[in-house]
Amino acid sequence: MSAPVRKAVIPAAGFGTRFLPVTKSVAKEMLPIVDKPAIQYVVEEAVAAGIEDILIISARGKDSIADHFDRHIELEVFLEGKGKLAEAREVRALGELADVTVIRQGEALGLGHAVGMARNHVGHEPFVVMLGDDLMHERAGVLRGMIEAYEARDASVVAFMEVARSEISAYGCASATPIDGESRLVRLEGLVEKPPADRAPSNLAVMGRYLFTPEIFDEIAKTQPGAGGEIQLTDAITALIGYQAVYGYTFSDGRYDAGKKLDFVRATIELALERDDLGPGLRDYLRDLVGRDFETGAI
Ligand code: UTP
Repeated sequence: MSAPVRKAVIPAAGFGTRFLPVTKSVAKEMLPIVDKPAIQYVVEEAVAAGIEDILIISARGKDSIADHFDRHIELEVFLEGKGKLAEAREVRALGELADVTVIRQGEALGLGHAVGMARNHVGHEPFVVMLGDDLMHERAGVLRGMIEAYEARDASVVAFMEVARSEISAYGCASATPIDGESRLVRLEGLVEKPPADRAPSNLAVMGRYLFTPEIFDEIAKTQPGAGGEIQLTDAITALIGYQAVYGYTFSDGRYDAGKKLDFVRATIELALERDDLGPGLRDYLRDLVGRDFETGAI
């Protein structure tokens, strides 16, 4: 029987250069999508999949991430004193959402290095890696699907989204073979980093969810700096594929890259549309907006 997946690692130590200037002083994982910071959606996704031990890899200047998942007794008492009991409960629940530990990556040496820092905390058990700015909609059920695949195969599983051929050159791309009787699972043969569209082995792009057996730590420890001078997680996965079955979990929709400006705006609009308190008003506004003439600039 496979060991249970109890722990998640959320790397959130990058500089967020695609989201400057705000990321000069605000962690991109703390940018609000509607009224929650992006990383809260990720932690809630982990908890919804049954994971309650979460290690966040943070960095200098990003202490607000740790504050957000800590209790804030003063605020709770203040809200209670004002009779704002629902708000007080919400603030308290956030501090008790999961068992969150935060450590710092002193130098941004790459995603592989950030994950490698989790070795002592994770120990010898399977774990998931969830990128702190990559949001997965609940309806996609990605993490749960990956955990089920791991339980069935007792092997590492990497998430891949089907993207348009023209977009694949922006991602890590899977070289994979289908498995009889499986609609979502493929057997990973290799990973190609950012291939030109005409040479891409598939349209499956690596997304920010990974489930690893603990052997990945040995591979990360052996990984030398690669693309961009960083210790790349994809290089460690490629090494793992050399001696262990690794599977790809494929899905086609429901992901937002909150570290990218356009996707961030899309996430804000789509998630607000789903809310009972904001959806109706926003729908009216959008209907009115699309009726306007953008060409003349008269909006
Ligand atoms: P990105 O490639 O998105 O880098 O990292 P970034 O710095 O966060 O953002 P851009 O591309 O410059 O805008 C992928 C994930 O790996 C984490 C990031 O926080 C992000 O979740 N990461 C990356 C680390 O934790 N440490 C690193 O050294 C590098």
